[in-house]
Amino acid sequence: MGERHPRVLVFDSGVGGFSVAACIHRALPGAKLVYLADNAGFPYGDQPEQVVIDRCCTLIEQCLQQESCDVIVIACNTASTVVLPHLRAKTEIPVVGVVPAIKPASSYSVNRKIGLLATPATIKRAYLDELIRDFAGDCEVARLGDPNLVRWAEELVSGRELEQALLDEVMLPLHQRGVDTVVLGCTHYPLLLPWLRKSLPDVVFWVESGEAIARRVAHWLEQVGLLAEAKNPEGVSGAVLIAACFTGPAPADIARFLDGMGIPAAEVKSRWPSLK
Ligand code: DGL
Repeated sequence: MGERHPRVLVFDSGVGGFSVAACIHRALPGAKLVYLADNAGFPYGDQPEQVVIDRCCTLIEQCLQQESCDVIVIACNTASTVVLPHLRAKTEIPVVGVVPAIKPASSYSVNRKIGLLATPATIKRAYLDELIRDFAGDCEVARLGDPNLVRWAEELVSGRELEQALLDEVMLPLHQRGVDTVVLGCTHYPLLLPWLRKSLPDVVFWVESGEAIARRVAHWLEQVGLLAEAKNPEGVSGAVLIAACFTGPAPADIARFLDGMGIPAAEVKSRWPSLK
């Protein structure tokens, strides 16, 4: 019997989840990926909770009807904070979410000063207070929820250069607080890392969630007996990324961007599937 390569559906409001998809691919090169970006609803950080819940659940259901998958990854902190219980109630397929990596950040920080970058919505969620209380109670955590960061990350993928001076200005409060560790609490932010490092040259630890998510995906694939296939890149025919679906127009430079991330797509679909 031929090996069946598992499939993982990665969902985000835009291109940020590709930072997670790339981590999953590095850890599990035998897993096929389907990417779904609700960029017609972007940014989720500005949307009411119910809109995010409805859009995520509807789109993921529609996507699974076309491409069956073994694990669903909500590669978006903003959506994960509200959508996970609703989605889990609708499907038997394991759902992996993402939360800002406060716990590992607290284990790294030497001066006990942590900067948390997230969307304006994530910054305000009550669960974040709990995370900080439970795992970083002895740290000073400076939260920064600037709405421009996700937009700049999207623009990068459309071929627009990021203005370092603008980012420096946004990062000034963290610079002044002297944080030694920064949590990238939004999956778009790893795409900004080369510029973030320049804005905050004294930061020692940059903490993101992609590798932890990849481990969680591996855990679920093990439960369904597909971990060996997921780890084995041999026999994966065609591109690992079966399709990159965007509910709005696909970003102009998407093919070049995906090549750079090491996950070229077999197919890029724009305005999929035209959610009313
Ligand atoms: N990548 C999403 C996150 O991790 C971006 C949120 C947004 O669309 O505002 O939060």
